[in-house]
Amino acid sequence: MKPIRIAQVSDVHISPDGAPVRGVDVRKQLLCVLNKLRTETLDLLVLSGDLAAHDGEAGAYQWIQENVQDFPVPVLYMVGNHDRLEVMQQHLNLPVPSAVPGVYCFAYSLEQHPLLFLDTGDNNLSEAQMHWLRETCVQYQENCLLFMHHPPLHCGCDYMDNHYYLHNREAVWAVLQDIPNIQHIFCGHYHTDRNLSRDGKQVYLTPSTMMQLGTSGEKFSLEHISPGWRMIAWDGVQLTTHTHYCRS
Ligand SMILES: [Fe+2]
Repeated sequence: MKPIRIAQVSDVHISPDGAPVRGVDVRKQLLCVLNKLRTETLDLLVLSGDLAAHDGEAGAYQWIQENVQDFPVPVLYMVGNHDRLEVMQQHLNLPVPSAVPGVYCFAYSLEQHPLLFLDTGDNNLSEAQMHWLRETCVQYQENCLLFMHHPPLHCGCDYMDNHYYLHNREAVWAVLQDIPNIQHIFCGHYHTDRNLSRDGKQVYLTPSTMMQLGTSGEKFSLEHISPGWRMIAWDGVQLTTHTHYCRS
């Protein structure tokens, strides 16, 4: 199969009105990343949730739509815990319908490579999505790349693991354990860059374009505010992935 290259951009937390979010010019941060990506050879851009600053603000989605509409490759959106699907549907061009009513989860075929996207916007993965995931994966001979906003396991990041974790992460992992053709899982939400391995599967945490969080200690801490993203190269067997940052 033809090799593919995907950019994963996460936790952009776009301001609805251009005001800074937690003191960060989040719009400028995302534009820096998009401008870098325009110079890359790419097949797909994935915005993996937490598109809006706080709570699904329409102005955030309108600004994103305006600023990615001329992006040279398809753009897929995911739902994070700061998003509202019904507002996203009004203002963003969501190119693929959901496979499960009431949430936004779907399969997308890129050069015949199956990519799967889940919705953990309510800090859970619903039973209906777990069922869909099982049923969908058995239909594929190929390996599937999986994208979900929340990581489905304990990541060794004290603050996020203990306060903002995926509530049914053990049940979700039990489902993933039984799906042999998911070996690579791409997440955001933790605002950090980390590769984890469990039961022969790789889980990748992708940095935010807004800010990166400290990973030790019970309290919120800021690591730095350089906007990051992840590049993924995949040929169906071999996967190569690296994170990058815009440094000012
Ligand atoms: Fe999040």
